Amino acid sequence: MSIDHDSHVHTDPDDISSNPSGNRPFHEVLAARAGRRDIVRGGTVIAAAAFLGAAGGALGTDTPASAGGHGHGRGKGRPGRRGLLGFDPVPPSTDDAITVPPGYTADVLIPWGTPLRSRGPAWRKDATNTAGDQAEQVGSHHDGMHFFPLGRGPLGSRRGLLVLNHEYVDRTLLYPDGDAEMTREKVDKALAGHGVSVVEVELSRGRWRNVDSRFNRRVTGTTPVAFSGPVSGRHPALRANNPPMGTLNNCSHGATPWGTYVTCEENWNGYFGTEDPQWSPTPEQARYGVNAAGFGYRWHLADPRFDVARNPNELHRFGWMVEIDPMNPRSTPVKRTALGRFKHEGATFWESRGRVVVYSGDDQDGEYLYKFVGDGPWRMQRALGRSPLDHGTLYVARFDDDGKGVWLPLEHGKGPLTRANGWQDQADVLLRTREAADAVGATALDRPEWVAVNPKNNDVYLTLTNGTGWPGEVNPRTPNPYGHIVRWRERGCDNTATSFEWDVFMLAGDPAYDPQVRLDETNIFGSPDGIWFDGDGRLWIQTDVSNSTQNRPDRGHDNIGNNAMLAADPRTGEIRRFLVGPRGAEITGVVTTPDQRTMFINVQHPGESTTYWGSPTPEDPRAVSNWPDFDPAGRPRSATVVIRKADGGVIGS
Ligand code: FEO
Ligand code: CA
Ligand code: CA
Ligand code: CA
Repeated sequence: MSIDHDSHVHTDPDDISSNPSGNRPFHEVLAARAGRRDIVRGGTVIAAAAFLGAAGGALGTDTPASAGGHGHGRGKGRPGRRGLLGFDPVPPSTDDAITVPPGYTADVLIPWGTPLRSRGPAWRKDATNTAGDQAEQVGSHHDGMHFFPLGRGPLGSRRGLLVLNHEYVDRTLLYPDGDAEMTREKVDKALAGHGVSVVEVELSRGRWRNVDSRFNRRVTGTTPVAFSGPVSGRHPALRANNPPMGTLNNCSHGATPWGTYVTCEENWNGYFGTEDPQWSPTPEQARYGVNAAGFGYRWHLADPRFDVARNPNELHRFGWMVEIDPMNPRSTPVKRTALGRFKHEGATFWESRGRVVVYSGDDQDGEYLYKFVGDGPWRMQRALGRSPLDHGTLYVARFDDDGKGVWLPLEHGKGPLTRANGWQDQADVLLRTREAADAVGATALDRPEWVAVNPKNNDVYLTLTNGTGWPGEVNPRTPNPYGHIVRWRERGCDNTATSFEWDVFMLAGDPAYDPQVRLDETNIFGSPDGIWFDGDGRLWIQTDVSNSTQNRPDRGHDNIGNNAMLAADPRTGEIRRFLVGPRGAEITGVVTTPDQRTMFINVQHPGESTTYWGSPTPEDPRAVSNWPDFDPAGRPRSATVVIRKADGGVIGS
């Protein structure tokens, strides 16, 4: 998310902390810093000596994977020891365009408003599509995305289901009259613009296109949903004035080893509000940033579902991870409560010792990183008819200043999470995940976003997009306007382990403003957000510099240009800019076909209100960007972009 809670003030709501816990006393931090600060400054690539020791040698070592991942293509790139990056870096750009390296093509696919079926409602460039139309069209603000092959072998790289999230809507661009009076039809159109799209795509005569398919489907803010795990559908906290429905603010995602998609609910608090002067938030509500004004969407004025005073339990139905079976278009999405309730950025699935492991950041300033570990082998659980996501332990991370870390269990009855301390049961712990994590002493982080696991050695990478600067060496800059990437190795390279060793992989930024940054014009970037490993072990990094900051010299961002995607070789620390996006947009969502010869990425919120370029209006929705249609009477829209190499080679090689 970049802005949108108030289109006149370009502030990202995630930048404002709602964590008052003050985890980690400051004197402890100062003492510890003396030992590690210089190490972090000394090199952007590697910081903790302990980590190198654990890696068993030089940075180039790829220790064999002790457990395989899934969903990652095993390409034929065979990069060997030459280095993984084979493209010419693209320069920073402020153009209203997509730029890719020489030898690559970038084509737009399924922009917002594309009808799911060829006979469905056509996109209307003047925003006059109805809520009903929107429910049969691709949603807005594309984010996390996965490609599910249809067919084995080479066929599976020519046809598949693209499943993608729609994080939010831009009120100025969604309606003909923009942000004027709120009506029920407008709320309904916004709800239909959120959620998930399932779209069958195929490679035909060298170009990818969407096709009519029985799999094509929308999940929106009103789709019926079910709950499972410790907070079951019968739990009193879930009893609200309307049936359980919808998923909102679908940021990043995950793909399970058993072939389903998981969508994450991030800034759900912003949709709720009230005009009731008597109402004030409970401590639990305040901890999730719920307040009377919300993010200024004013849905509660037209739909009592979103009035926190009249329908408070509706709040408890959001903040979860939601499992969707894309292969069964009639299946009901299930909110998997064992994975906790917070502002889930993403859900990175891995497998170790037969168990499922899910990493998830809580993207707000000063929040935490979580990991769910299944109780037993997931294949066995599925054979018994159980969901592997309903049975397991949720942990939260503590990063210590000596380069070590611990996963702290959020289990009722353990540590401080007892009845004596007011914790009723495991459902209570999960409904109040943030407070439970406060209680066990988790480490506050500079906005934890995506997690990626290196398929070559099981090392885990986390983007910390930016922050005010929280205690601890894991947040080495105060403030931290550019963000950084942290990585760790779980004990024994076993991702189910409860301890790890970590270091700072890379500080983002511009050395013209921060001499600690070891980047140059081929790779300066800010606010890393999306992060993903391809099957060869290339680390793809996508940026989301806020529109309050982008291009501004007074914020140290005038050399960085528009948001971008870079590729890094984690063995050497080499990094190159691969793609630059249009104005006002972030780059997010990345996946390849199994053969790695097609990459899909998303461009989210092109043309959004920015401090540097100005603001779109209902009269001139093109004030910032007119990507991708460049129609003089149209409007900018989020879209998927298909990247191919002219020679048909592996992307990035
Ligand atoms: Fe949805 Fe944290 O970006
Ligand atoms: Ca964003
Ligand atoms: Ca993000
Ligand atoms: Ca972001």
